[in-house]
Amino acid sequence: EQINKGSYEHYMQKEIHEQPESLTTTMRGRLIRGGSSKSKTVLLGGLKDHLKTIRRSRRIVFIGCGTSYNAALAARPILEELSGIPVTMEVASDLLDRQGPIYREDTAVFVSQSGETADTLHALEYALENGALCVGITNTVGSAIARNTHCGVHINAGCEIGVASTKAYTSQIVVMAMLALAIGDDTSSSLGRRESIIDGLFDLPNKVREVLKLDQEMKDLAKLLIAEQSLLVFGRGYNYATALEGALKVKEVALMHSEGIIAGEMKHGPLALVDENLPIVVIATRDACFSKQQSVIQQLHARKGRLIMMCSKGDSAAVCPGGSCRVIEVPQVEDCLQPVINVVPLQLLAYHLTVLRGYNVDQPRNLAKSVTTQ
Ligand code: G6P
Repeated sequence: EQINKGSYEHYMQKEIHEQPESLTTTMRGRLIRGGSSKSKTVLLGGLKDHLKTIRRSRRIVFIGCGTSYNAALAARPILEELSGIPVTMEVASDLLDRQGPIYREDTAVFVSQSGETADTLHALEYALENGALCVGITNTVGSAIARNTHCGVHINAGCEIGVASTKAYTSQIVVMAMLALAIGDDTSSSLGRRESIIDGLFDLPNKVREVLKLDQEMKDLAKLLIAEQSLLVFGRGYNYATALEGALKVKEVALMHSEGIIAGEMKHGPLALVDENLPIVVIATRDACFSKQQSVIQQLHARKGRLIMMCSKGDSAAVCPGGSCRVIEVPQVEDCLQPVINVVPLQLLAYHLTVLRGYNVDQPRNLAKSVTTQ
């Protein structure tokens, strides 16, 4: 049943639209909300014997490729905040190229939808040789990464067929947000924050249902962008990863050059590209970085940038100087969960751009779902 396209034309389309359900399955049995507020908690069975060791580790290293790397990047800030442990990021192949230092006191977290990606698997062997505690986050029970790590969490997003990962990405972020809650101390100072995140997780499938209603709007936007050569996506903070992942989707399936840019680096190069023609998506939903993002918008606007703003509902006027840009309004959720919402319109945009440009959505040119060679 899972590998049937149902009423959808393509697997990628089906997988984008089933995210409310895949996220529900990812969280099932893992979020506990009892009668009193104090009983809100997270249970990750596959980690319970190792949580103490993870809490004592000197560093947490996320390792992955492609979309899985981006998912870890999206979760990094909340893991840092709740655990207080330094979190570093490694593209699996780059860690191997550098033979970068991995220590016994490290927790190395391997993120992979398939659980079979050769680079990630080799990085796992390398981390095991170096004595790190190895945690797997995969979507495939019995996969090599699930088997060879010391412990882990299955994301339970259901079978993903489209080569471009969509529902696995959002489920990976949710699992890593739950990981952050599981590792973080249950101190009185963090209680309110933890509860807001848990409440936000419970409500997330509904909010994803809401953002999926932008489907037609994203199709209209795709029609406008159909003949473009290039698309930039600016994000920062929690949504730096969204910029990378949105650009990756457009590149992978729509075969259009696209680049995710960390907005704080705008003045150090990307600003030179800005003119009246190049379309730029700016992610500016409400969070602690909002005012900084507003000043980025002003600078892009001053250079007559062709802006497509993504903002929180009701914020059009705050992000659209002079009302001259196109706006995508999305529901606002807890800041660390916002990447789950914000990526959805970009997935839809990439999907529609691909179909309109006449390319193969589910099996893009030159790419494979699982890259099992180095
Ligand atoms: C390939 C796929 C991507 C995926 C990446 C990592 O490049 O085309 O969609 O993100 O591998 O795969 P993994 O299974 O390790 O998440």
